[in-house]
Order: sequence, then structure tokens, then C-alpha cells
Amino acid sequence: MRYRNDLSENDVTPEWLWRSRRAFLRDALLATAAWAASPLVTRAAGLAAAPNPAFRLAEEPTPLDKVTGYNNFYEFGTDKEEPARQAGSLRTRLWTVTVDGEVNKPRTFDIDDILRLAPLEERIYRLRCVEAWSMVIPWVGFPLAALLKQVEPRGNARFVQFVSLADRQQMPDLGRGVLDWPYREGLRMDEALHPLTLLTVGLYGQVLPNQNGAPVRIVVPWKYGFKSAKSIVAIRLVEAMPATSWNQAAPREYGFYANVNPAVDHPRWSQARERRIGDFFKRPTLPFNGYGEQVASLYAGMDLARHF
Ligand code: MTE
Repeated sequence: MRYRNDLSENDVTPEWLWRSRRAFLRDALLATAAWAASPLVTRAAGLAAAPNPAFRLAEEPTPLDKVTGYNNFYEFGTDKEEPARQAGSLRTRLWTVTVDGEVNKPRTFDIDDILRLAPLEERIYRLRCVEAWSMVIPWVGFPLAALLKQVEPRGNARFVQFVSLADRQQMPDLGRGVLDWPYREGLRMDEALHPLTLLTVGLYGQVLPNQNGAPVRIVVPWKYGFKSAKSIVAIRLVEAMPATSWNQAAPREYGFYANVNPAVDHPRWSQARERRIGDFFKRPTLPFNGYGEQVASLYAGMDLARHF
């Protein structure tokens, strides 16, 4: 007679199951080893990024606990505190981003390939949410243009679509039909190539916390925050204006362009002012979120009340 502890796994478990468990354990170990060896992590959750002096602000950065504790990430819940509580289930390794469509060299990038494409910079940007609050965040990343250049966009690539991960195993709120998943966003090609548009992998000198869109997201500082898709797995260069989740959900409320514009109210509230998280008083919202000098020319001749 054998005690329970003497039984080998093989005695009690069908072979196919223990084999698949072992394969799973092996994959998990390999994934952990790859993770530990990656440039992102060898600097121990810290990210070496040179502050870019062109993107300093006279405004105080929003404290880290607010940046990571008050989030919109509907895949992890619609309350602002839920992403911080629930996004621990997101597995950010191994992670790939497929870049394809109207390009000469479609390619699937591993997150570590992405990190090697260009030097990381720290840029302090205002983030203005469509809900009339804002933050000031020291992001870490590099211009999206450096990634797009790698795949050689074709002349007929007029728009870029961003697709976030949609995995029910990892994202508890995908079962709720708040939006049509996966979360999709888009930019016109010239917006995507604009040097302000940041492919973002960190904030406050650390790798991106899951609730802020780990391991890689877009940040477009002159547009409402919903344009800045989180945890992206695909970037597609396309000819026609792509469908975007918020525009599909409520086209009268969320336009494709979504440039921060105090002169065009949301149908249900004013966009003239905003509350900086942590402040008591509201402040005026700036056209293009304060980046008009750099980007207003992209929209010369366009009626921004119609193309909101
Ligand atoms: N990306 C995905 N995949 N899902 C989301 O719900 N919310 C957007 C944007 N990106 C969202 C997303 C909105 S509305 C805002 S304001 C910003 O993320 C918030 O980014 P932050 O939480 O890092 O401040």
C-alpha cells in the first residue's frame, strides 16, 4: 500500500493531462526567463529614459497614485478604481504587436524588439479625458513614427488602426457589452506620423502599470484620452477611415478626430473647462490641449465643429 504522497503524478492523472501540464510549466518557465532577461526588466521595473527638454511643462505632474489609481480601461471595469484592482490578471509577457495592412514589410514585433527600435524618452504630456478631467503624466516611449518606418507604409496607407487585446481569460469585463470589443482606435496617417504621437511603454520612469495599458499603448496628447488605445496587439495601415469603438458606440458623442476643443461641447456636457485631478477649481481647456502650435496646421481648412 502506498501513501498518497508516494503516488507519482502519472499514477493519478491521465497521461495527456500531465503532459500538457508539464508543457504549460515549461512554457511558463521559459516565459519567466525571457521576461527577466528583457531590456524592460533588467533595469528592475525602472526604465532608463532621457527626459526630453522639449516636453517639460510648468504644471505639476499628477501624483503617481492618482495616475495609477484613477483609470479608464473598460476591459477591467467601468469604475475609475476598478482597473487598478483588476488589471493584475493581464499577462504582459510574452507580448507581440502585429503591424500590417498597406505596408511593404508587414511584421510582428516582440515587445523587446519594439524597445530596441529607438531611444526611450521621458515626455511630460497633458492628458485630457473627454469626461472633462485631466492629468499631467511623465510618459516613457518614443515617436510611433519610428515603428511605422520599419514596415515601410505604402502610398495608399491613409489611416492607422490600433487594436487592443481582447481576451476574456484576462479581462473580466469583456463579457459586459459596454463596447464592441476589441477596443479599436484610429488616426489619420499624418497624425500617426506626427512627432508628438508617442508609442508608450512606461510612466514615471517605470514600466507601464497594467491599468495604464501595459506593455505598450499609444498616447496622442492633443486628442481626448479615448484616442490613446491601451495594451495594443495590432496596428493596421489602411486606406479607408477605420471603425473605432467609441465612434461606433455613440457617433454623435465621439467623433473620429476627437481633437481637444473647448469650443465644441459634448452633447451632454461642456468641454470649455476641465478639472485637473487633485485640484479643487476647474481650469479652462486649451485648444488641442495646449499643443495647437505643433498640430493645428494638420487641420487647416477643416471645419472642426463638423469633424469633431
Ligand atoms: N484603451 C482601452 N483598450 N480601453 C479603454 O477603456 N480608455 C481610454 C484610453 N484608452 C481605454 C483605452 C480613455 S477614455 C482614457 S481617458 C485613457 O485611456 C486613460 O488612460 P490612463 O488610465 O492611463 O490615464
